[in-house]
Amino acid sequence: GALSRANNIADLRVLARRKLPRPVFDYIDGGSDDEVTLRRNASAFEHYELVPDVLTDVSRIETGTTLFGQRVRWPLMLSPTGLTRMFHGHAELAVARASAKHGLLYSLSTMGTTRLEELAEAYGGPKVFQIYIFKDRGLTAEFVARCREAGFHGLTLTVDTPVAGNRERDRVNGLSLPPRLTMKSMLSFALHPAWSLPAVTGSKFDLANVSHRVDALAAGPISLFDYIGGQFDRTVTWRDVEWLAAEWNGPLAIKGIITPEDAKRAVDSGATGIVISNHGGRQLDGAPAPVDQIGLVRDAIGTGPDVICDGGIRRGSDVVKAVALGATACSIGRPYLYGLAAGGESGVDRALSLLFEEFERTMILAGVNDVAKLDCRHVRRPQELW
Ligand code: FNR
Repeated sequence: GALSRANNIADLRVLARRKLPRPVFDYIDGGSDDEVTLRRNASAFEHYELVPDVLTDVSRIETGTTLFGQRVRWPLMLSPTGLTRMFHGHAELAVARASAKHGLLYSLSTMGTTRLEELAEAYGGPKVFQIYIFKDRGLTAEFVARCREAGFHGLTLTVDTPVAGNRERDRVNGLSLPPRLTMKSMLSFALHPAWSLPAVTGSKFDLANVSHRVDALAAGPISLFDYIGGQFDRTVTWRDVEWLAAEWNGPLAIKGIITPEDAKRAVDSGATGIVISNHGGRQLDGAPAPVDQIGLVRDAIGTGPDVICDGGIRRGSDVVKAVALGATACSIGRPYLYGLAAGGESGVDRALSLLFEEFERTMILAGVNDVAKLDCRHVRRPQELW
């Protein structure tokens, strides 16, 4: 079928665009303001050359590594994404199943549409929960307890979202709060009957992990989203990270770190990992590309903590570059969402297979038979020559 003819992530993106109503596709695909950071996240990888060693024995490639204390098949993980049920009816479970099949680490978002307990029950693979610190610290503490109870292996605290970014595509499409769909948007929904609206508006769609706290308000999905947005706390500081680290007392990554100074502070505050991220170009437009920050961050915190490069990964070779620059692993959002929209679990499976094949082939061509042997010798920015 169409999935097997997709040769790369760009092809899956085209399939997703065909399948989804335009406002939904744009919600996945878009970034904030002028989308400068969105574009740079991916294009920054092109500025690095891969420098091969020849005539090394590449008959067997060791790809495995450890993330959040869990063994994974290769240095990739799946980033947390909200509202997943809007992209495909099988939602988070489809993504998690494909992730487990590939031996990867899955992240469930607070803004997800599957209850964390339900996910944990249906899914035996390694998993982390992405948390926010809410105005109501009791709600955050409750999440910590629920994640421990359900057997999550780690937490990721997202810190780049004190306020929602300015996603202008969503505004143009009327995908706002409350929705103000334009005629063009409504036409696009009508022209995509294969994408089922009931999966979105029906009883199954809500922000499953937080809804029990607002049942009393009898909130619908949209006002619930509004409610949650209003719960993000702009007074959050490093003290809250210390509090969360003590409360959880397990693998904890801080997601949304850009500078080496903040990475150092995160580790000093109790984090065991850093996710270098600008939220896939959806928050602060103008922020640097994560790949360009890897070396600085690694130098600042040493070899112990996990350093995860999140944003702009579209090829397996991007992962080789990031690891050579000092990252423990990379994390992807849109690449698996394009796959999900294109074909549910099989689509995510296709995305992960393509990236793994590219990764392994690049390792062989670069003459490196173990991810642990990748180092700064294998990447170069040409301008460093002059
Ligand atoms: C996201 N991202 C995100 N991050 C987070 O911490 N919590 C969330 O709920 C979401 N939701 C979300 C929805 C959608 C549709 C996208 C595309 C992204 C950001 C995500 O975790 C990750 O940082 C980026 O997707 C990485 O960039 P790439 O791989 O999409 O280029």
